[in-house]
Amino acid sequence: MFIVSLFLSLLAVSRAQYEPTWESLDSRPLPEWYDAAKVGIFIHWGVYSVPSFGSEWFWKNWQGFGIQKYVDFMERNYRPGFTYADFAPAFTAEFFEPDEWASVFNASGARYVVLTSKHHEGFTLWPSRYSWNWNSLDVGPKRDLVGDLAEAIRSKTPHIHFGLYYSLYEWFHPIFQSDMSHLFTTNEFVTKKVMPELNDLVNRYEPEVIWSDGDWDAPALYWTSKEFLAWLFNASPVKDTVVVNDRWGTGAICHHGSFYTCFDRYNPGVLQNHKWENAMTLDRHSWGYRREAGASDYLSFRELVTELAETISCGGNLLVNVGPTHDGRLPAIMEERLRQLGSWLDVNGEAVYDSVPWKHQNDTLTPGVWYTSKGNLVYAMVLSWPEKDVLTLGSVRPTPQTHVAMLAYQDDHGSSSLQFTILQDGIAVTFPAMSRVGSQWAWVLVLQGIEPA
Ligand SMILES: *[C@@H]1O[C@H](CO)[C@@H](O)[C@H](O)[C@H]1NC(C)=O
Ligand SMILES: *[C@@H]1O[C@H](CO)[C@@H](O)[C@H](O)[C@H]1NC(C)=O
Repeated sequence: MFIVSLFLSLLAVSRAQYEPTWESLDSRPLPEWYDAAKVGIFIHWGVYSVPSFGSEWFWKNWQGFGIQKYVDFMERNYRPGFTYADFAPAFTAEFFEPDEWASVFNASGARYVVLTSKHHEGFTLWPSRYSWNWNSLDVGPKRDLVGDLAEAIRSKTPHIHFGLYYSLYEWFHPIFQSDMSHLFTTNEFVTKKVMPELNDLVNRYEPEVIWSDGDWDAPALYWTSKEFLAWLFNASPVKDTVVVNDRWGTGAICHHGSFYTCFDRYNPGVLQNHKWENAMTLDRHSWGYRREAGASDYLSFRELVTELAETISCGGNLLVNVGPTHDGRLPAIMEERLRQLGSWLDVNGEAVYDSVPWKHQNDTLTPGVWYTSKGNLVYAMVLSWPEKDVLTLGSVRPTPQTHVAMLAYQDDHGSSSLQFTILQDGIAVTFPAMSRVGSQWAWVLVLQGIEPA
């Protein structure tokens, strides 16, 4: 008996083991929480939040590419000889209230959060032992920013999953440059910096998303990505729940990983056969905070909800990026967008969370109508109020059981039902009086008893 059960448990263990090959790693099922969550918050925060000019590529644009706009900015505003590292003491974060951030993220309806633990500049937002004097405990905030946010999210809003972004490469790290000059036949940077840091991050903060980046110059072989992922999936403290993106070495993007990000602001507009994520920014031009951004540089809420509808209908998740300031504030316009998103989801979230793509993604007759489904219900997210209050749906065939309702609407008797007429190739739904509708943007119809065209 003992031998039999030992044998069975060995079998179970060996079956759970992933090999460091893409074939094996890609066979791991996607942990369920991620697809159900649909909406996450991305946070780009670091030393670039101090100049907060141009983009988070500040340093590279200034010293790496020598782009004139950045060179001029430095000449006009800083003493000669000022270095990028000189910005770090001004990364003060004195207004950083992690509980407040957790509360805003929660109010946005997001179900996961991804913080940049280290961007391409190499500055770590946690006290990394491998980032001597270039981390948030030694310089600047004098705090473990990753730990403080993780703690706030987990204690205040435990239903929100905590994740971390990590840039594999660092623009100006001498050991990375040395590996690069050896055409990546040496990988001292990976063994001395990247892997110790990734292991430290996973063991210390147990992130349930690892959003890797900065991989593109070198192959997965150099980064030892497959070995890391095998450990992550087999033996790490988050082996059962962690999800990872697709940036693990040249050519991995859009081909390997729990979900594909393909390129920044990826929004293909058609159904994909692998889980994917639209990582996009509220500031159209930058991931990091820009002081010079004006109101029109930010997505309107209408634009944001359009991204959401298109993304979810095609099987993606939406990762909405905010760029906090050097002193730890979420800019008011970003907070407002997040709260608008949350108000919309409070009313219409049924069409989003836990939904799956339907037979059709957008309507065949009327532009700007995006579908999702759940059980035997089909949801139509309608981005524009229809002309003359009548919406034509061409992707829908009625049956004798067809019933149509609107989530944000109730008549005097508490009914959300809408009238519709049957057309030769679809249905025409009559919208209610706008004054009775409790949502200003993107109205959601719940369709019951219909067939896809
Ligand atoms: C999180 O959001 C939900 C839904 O809006 C709300 O009921 C709850 O009170 C919020 N929790 C916190 C800690 O803000
Ligand atoms: C449906 O979406 C696709 C992809 O965005 C677009 O090319 C097509 O025109 C849309 N169809 C309608 C009727 O809007």
